[in-house]
Amino acid sequence: MTGKGGVGKTTVAYALGLTAAAAGKRTIVCEIARQERGSELFGIEPIGFNEVRVGDGLWAISIDPDRMVREYLEVLLPVRAMASLLYRSNLFAYLAAATPGLQEVVSIGKAYELTLDVRRAPGDGRVYDLVIVDSPATGHGVGFLEAPGTFRRIARGGPLADQASRIERMITDPERCGVGIVATPEEMAVNESADLADGLAEAGVALDELYVNELFPDRFSAAEIDEIRAARERVESPALDAAIAEAERAAAQRIELERLRGILPGVPAHELPFLFTSGFGEAELRDLAEELAR
Ligand SMILES: Nc1ncnc2c1ncn2[C@@H]1O[C@H](COP(=O)(O)OP(=O)(O)OP(=O)(O)O)[C@@H](O)[C@H]1O
Ligand SMILES: [Mg+2]
Repeated sequence: MTGKGGVGKTTVAYALGLTAAAAGKRTIVCEIARQERGSELFGIEPIGFNEVRVGDGLWAISIDPDRMVREYLEVLLPVRAMASLLYRSNLFAYLAAATPGLQEVVSIGKAYELTLDVRRAPGDGRVYDLVIVDSPATGHGVGFLEAPGTFRRIARGGPLADQASRIERMITDPERCGVGIVATPEEMAVNESADLADGLAEAGVALDELYVNELFPDRFSAAEIDEIRAARERVESPALDAAIAEAERAAAQRIELERLRGILPGVPAHELPFLFTSGFGEAELRDLAEELAR
C-alpha cells in the first residue's frame, strides 16, 4: 500500500488484511514505520518486531527501519558487540547516511522474508499466503520500492547485492507483487496518486488497485439540494448549513474521484466511505473490510 500521507494507508492495509483473512488467506500486515497503529486499532499490546496474531488468519508485525538496520548489521558482522558498538557510534550514522536506501532495503528485506516458504527464524514454520506492506508515506513511496534495484547496482556483487536482486525480482514480478494506491478524493491526493503511478511504471512495478478512501455520502439529489438552499434563505439553521456543506464536499469529492479514474482508467478503484465515528477501531476496520469484499 502506498499513497500520500494521512490518506488511510494503514487503515486500508488492515481492512484489506481482514478481507483476505476472511477469504481464507493466511495474511500478515507489515507496518513499516517508527510508530505502529495496529495495536491501537485492535486494542492490544504494542505490536513489536514479532508476528502477532490479531484475528482469525491475520497477523501483524511492526518493522522499524532503524531497528532493521541494526538487525542487519548484527547478521553481517561476526561479533554482536561490534554491531552494537557500530550502531551507537557516529560512524553508524555516517554509514547509514552514505548508503542511500539502506533502511528501505533492509525493511523491504524483512517483508520479503515473510513471503518465503523457508524462513530464517529457527523453529518458525509458518507460511503466509499474502503479505500486505504498509509502506511509508510518499516522498519515499516509489523510492522505497526502488531501493533494492539501486542497491544491487551500487553493491555490484556480494551477499547484499544478491539479496537486493532477489527482492527486486520479486517486486517487479506482477504475479507476485502488486501495489495498491490509497487516495482520498481530494486534489492533492489525486495529484500525488498520478505521480506515484508514473513512478511505479518507471520502476517496473505493477499497479493493481486504487482505494478511494473517506468518500462522503451522496445524500441528496440536485432537486433536494435546491430545496435545502431555498429553505436556508428563509431560516437560519445549523442543520441546513451542515447539509449544504456536506453536499458540497460530496460533490467536490465526486469530481476528484472521476478525475482519478480518468488519469488511471485501467485500474480498478474501490470506494470506501468516510466513517462518522468518534473512535476508529476494529469494528470500523471490519465495516471497511466488508465494503472491500463486495
Ligand atoms: N474511511 C475512513 N473514515 C473515517 N476516518 C478514517 C477513514 N480512513 C482513515 N481514517 C482516519 O484517518 C486517519 C489517518 O489514517 P491512517 O493512519 O490509516 O493514514 P495513513 O495514510 O496510514 O497515514 P500516515 O501517512 O501518517 O501513515 C486516522 O485517524 C484514521 O482513523
Ligand atoms: Mg500509516
